[in-house]
Amino acid sequence: MANKWVRLDKGAPGGPRVLRAVPSVQDTVQEHLGQVRTGGAQALPERDRTELKRRKLLLEMTLKSYWIRQGSAFSTAVARPETELTPEMISTGSWRQLPFKPYNFSSLGLPPACGHLHPLLKVRSELRQIFLEMGYRYEWKVEEARKNLLRTHTTSASARALFQLARQEKFSPVKYFSIDRVFRNESLDATHLAEFHQVEGVVADRGLTLGHLMGILRQFFTKLGISQLRFKPAYNPYTEPSMEVFSYHEGLKKWVEVGNSGVFRPELLLPMGLPENVSVIAWGLSLERPTMIKYGIKNIRELMGHRVNLQMVYDSPMCRLDM
Ligand code: PHE
Repeated sequence: MANKWVRLDKGAPGGPRVLRAVPSVQDTVQEHLGQVRTGGAQALPERDRTELKRRKLLLEMTLKSYWIRQGSAFSTAVARPETELTPEMISTGSWRQLPFKPYNFSSLGLPPACGHLHPLLKVRSELRQIFLEMGYRYEWKVEEARKNLLRTHTTSASARALFQLARQEKFSPVKYFSIDRVFRNESLDATHLAEFHQVEGVVADRGLTLGHLMGILRQFFTKLGISQLRFKPAYNPYTEPSMEVFSYHEGLKKWVEVGNSGVFRPELLLPMGLPENVSVIAWGLSLERPTMIKYGIKNIRELMGHRVNLQMVYDSPMCRLDM
């Protein structure tokens, strides 16, 4: 009907009838298909091909073929390229003829089995960085650090530093810190050993108050990634007032003690010769507790001592405290 080869006579007696309309027809689709059979689809113009594809009379697909031939270095014998240049190759001159394996400059190589920092050292350098950022500096001497001394806290070292300060002709405000090992007569359990590292900060200036101490503690612990703080009155023989520092532990869902602090008593400062209006505020914490929290270590014996697993040291990631 579309080609007008037949027509419909709707009004014919006995119902509609289909009647021939032309003497002969030319079936181009059949012709096209015949051409495809004899000459391939390329023989047809693009427009006709598209039409045949649309009617699913033609299917177009892409075939990829490869030719594989012998390459220039083809051989049936296995020849290993040399990986090392030997003195013999050089003296005989054979290196000129030998094939050498090229260097692989993008190979990663073996990770070195040494030179890994223990988690305590990683956290120690982060803490040290915090003190330095906050302006605490002094001349560190290896001879001093090497001295063997079993002390129960580093506050003795702070007192010694303050004594040196008092011997200066004119007082100048200072900020000190220390991170060092201390020894205590403790009953040993999963979180206590007879030795640990203490981190201590000290500020000496005129007119320092408890408010300064609280402000510095907030700043310090925030840098450590601990921002929810509470202070609880405490007792130290050498500070008054004294405060224990608590932080809310998200994992344990409770407040845990993270440090101790206070304002040095005049009984400690005056005999050393510090001016009367100079006050000293200080605080201390352990290196082990934040390290155990940060690295998810439950038993302190896995962190310190002869049971430390070296693989743990190799595998421990770098320390970022502010996250
Ligand atoms: N020396 C205290 C301790 O071992 C910590 C501390 C340091 C307290 C400085 C007050 C001032 O717990």
